[in-house]
Amino acid sequence: MQTLGRAPRLTRRNLLAGLGAACLPWPALAARQSVVLRPAALSTRIAGRRLDMLGFNGTIPGPEIRVRQGDQVDIRLENGLDDGALVHWHGLRVPNRMDGVNVLTQDVVIPGRSHDYHFALPDAGTYWYHSHYLSYDQVSRGLFGAFVVEERDPPEVDHDITVQLFDMMIDEEGRYDDSFDPAQFATAGKIGNVATAFVSRDGIRQGDRLRLRCINPSIDRIYELRLSGVAGNIVALDGMPLPAPRPLAPIILAPGQRCDVIADVTGPVRLTDTYGGTSVTLGEIAMEGSRTPRRSAIPGLPANAMPAPGPVDAHVDLVMQGGAGGGDHDGFGTWALNDVSGLPRRPLVDVRRGATVRMTLRNATAFPHVMHLHGHHFHELDARGASGAYRDSTLVGAGAARDILCVLDNPGSWMLHCHMLSHQTDGMATWVRVR
Ligand code: C2O
Ligand code: CU
Repeated sequence: MQTLGRAPRLTRRNLLAGLGAACLPWPALAARQSVVLRPAALSTRIAGRRLDMLGFNGTIPGPEIRVRQGDQVDIRLENGLDDGALVHWHGLRVPNRMDGVNVLTQDVVIPGRSHDYHFALPDAGTYWYHSHYLSYDQVSRGLFGAFVVEERDPPEVDHDITVQLFDMMIDEEGRYDDSFDPAQFATAGKIGNVATAFVSRDGIRQGDRLRLRCINPSIDRIYELRLSGVAGNIVALDGMPLPAPRPLAPIILAPGQRCDVIADVTGPVRLTDTYGGTSVTLGEIAMEGSRTPRRSAIPGLPANAMPAPGPVDAHVDLVMQGGAGGGDHDGFGTWALNDVSGLPRRPLVDVRRGATVRMTLRNATAFPHVMHLHGHHFHELDARGASGAYRDSTLVGAGAARDILCVLDNPGSWMLHCHMLSHQTDGMATWVRVR
């Protein structure tokens, strides 16, 4: 049973009626919620150990932000760190100024200062927030949390549970090991020796219907998440509903990725990581009692309103290079994209708002990478060019290639980077501009 490190839910402070209603799609129902996020050092118990790490509002994960589709949030970041702070809203299609990215969208918030973010939530789904400043370090120390946008008319379930998969390096004395060594940066990144699942609640009954919102905030680790004791469907990936839900099977979750599962409890619910052929128990959801199972079919989720792709306006090649045993490049750092390490002076793509862009992501390295685009979702394309699920992050295996199709309709400067945060830090990042 995972009873420690649970993320408290923020109490709703809904100031109904009128506020900013003119620009919201559901004027009569739109609400506005205020949240304060305060990153600071903390000492906390995780997986049976007391550890000195960082957290938002005194917890790891940070408080779960839970709003409804069409709502508006006002989030104040109060920097309680003795370092810079920035928060990025991963997967949410926010205005560019609210994206929380150093250099491209805002300045770093210095210690003791605060910064306000305001945005509306056009899409329902499972998202998350995390530090975007020295993120390989700050996220690995605990600066992340879930961001849930409920449907206006959510599917009927007994429990809506958030599951965050997290790994850490613990040294021989049982302390949190914050060191990074270059050999890790140049390979698969920093993979912890302890992995756990933060589960937002337990006390489920046999026969209950669950919605599990699974998030991978680990900096570099890929999971193959196996859920036992439940039968149902995968209904969303990276927050976006699947038009055709898939029967539950082990799910690959690379850093930053999410999946939503709706499933009925058939026995003890256990979460296991089977990536790479080893089996690691991540956690359980404690069960008490039972109920008569439902007869109704597992519901799906209503689609979000996404821009439709037009004819392809631009086709861009993006080559991932570098690392141990990987393709050469002219860039300065360990990793590079198209021969540049770190943000290039000019964007990879510079297009008019609404352009449809096809990208071929080619992995010329000896390690997998998960490429994440800010401010948009894109379609993964299969070998024949047919479009698959919407994603905000796509995993490309060593030596493999994947095409994606994006409608770049959100104006501004958006990062596109590997979400293995050690790789991002060491060069694997670029950006796109939408005018
Ligand atoms: Cu989840 Cu650039 O971030
Ligand atoms: Cu990478």
